[in-house]
Amino acid sequence: MALLEGKTALVTGGGRGIGRGIVLSLAACGASVVINDLGASLSGEGRDRGPAEQVLAEVQALGADGAINGGSVADYASANAMVEQAVATFGRLDIVVHAAGVLRDRMIFNMTEEEWDAVIAVHLKGLFNVLRPATALMRQQKSGRIIALASGSAYGDPGQPNYAAAKAGIIGLSYSTANAMAKYGVTCNVVLPTGTTRMIDSKPESRVIFEKTGKWPSEAAKGTPKDPDNVAPLVSFLASDRAGGVNGQVFHSHGFGYTLVDQPRILARLDSTSAWTPEQLAAAFESFMAKDVPPRPELPFGREVDRIDPADWQPIDTGRRYWRRAGQPA
Ligand SMILES: NC(=O)c1ccc[n+]([C@@H]2O[C@H](COP(=O)([O-])OP(=O)(O)OC[C@H]3O[C@@H](n4cnc5c(N)ncnc54)[C@H](O)[C@@H]3O)[C@@H](O)[C@H]2O)c1
Repeated sequence: MALLEGKTALVTGGGRGIGRGIVLSLAACGASVVINDLGASLSGEGRDRGPAEQVLAEVQALGADGAINGGSVADYASANAMVEQAVATFGRLDIVVHAAGVLRDRMIFNMTEEEWDAVIAVHLKGLFNVLRPATALMRQQKSGRIIALASGSAYGDPGQPNYAAAKAGIIGLSYSTANAMAKYGVTCNVVLPTGTTRMIDSKPESRVIFEKTGKWPSEAAKGTPKDPDNVAPLVSFLASDRAGGVNGQVFHSHGFGYTLVDQPRILARLDSTSAWTPEQLAAAFESFMAKDVPPRPELPFGREVDRIDPADWQPIDTGRRYWRRAGQPA
């Protein structure tokens, strides 16, 4: 039986980029999919049903069922309508993937309130908007899979304060949802994707590549480690019954591999049997904790993977291998 036979899914932002690859993978695994997409520009303006219609045709060519929804996930009533559409069309809703996204990059000291609000509305409030009705449904049916796309930018991209905040908020909301919904058999996990889509084409370094080669980086990504479709197998697995034991986790999809990201862990503590004065704390901090303060957060996952000692990899089969951080319980 196919991995997602008989399941139904809602994918926000399913008309383009990473979301499109996820829709096609879910459909190829046997799921019926509501493809939500506003058909907006990268900054969130305009509407176009074309991309979602195109993906629907591709879903149908795979022999799967699909439907399109052109509402904005940033609008509470429209997001409720997406969930209702899935149930009205396919009878139930097993899987929700939130891949809709917009960018309004600007340094914190230059950002307008409108740029802040627009990005928070689609990414973070958009996730709440679909989760509110979807979790109510999944709680009753006692099953469900939620996968939210965040970003490595959550860990502090300096040029994306609105986007970093929205994506870090998605991680917090997903941890909360995972804890709230575990007893109902529902999981909620986060994927930090990478893939050369139009979102990456918008970076200044991509324009340099376009001017040199006449091709945007997204046009050269197909089949390479930068292909946005590389994210989809992880999402389809997390959407399946076989991922029932994976809840409240964050994965980084990078190239042809998937990294499990650690949860925040305690590093050091100054302890006392009575309250500290600020001066006492300053003195103890300088003598003890200062040496344990890590560098400012980076966006290190891809680079860290590239630095792993070749001898530390465990072979799986041809071309595939596994690494885990040393010192973890077996
Ligand atoms: N491309 C990357 O390397 C990368 C890295 C980290 C995170 N992400 C995240 O992955 C997701 C997909 O990004 P992508 O690169 O495929 O971008 P994309 O621009 O190719 O696709 C995003 C889609 O979301 C749709 N959308 C925008 N606003 C919407 C709204 N209000 N309601 C419904 N749909 C809306 C757009 O029409 C578009 O089709 C986003 O959440 C993005 O932040 C991407």
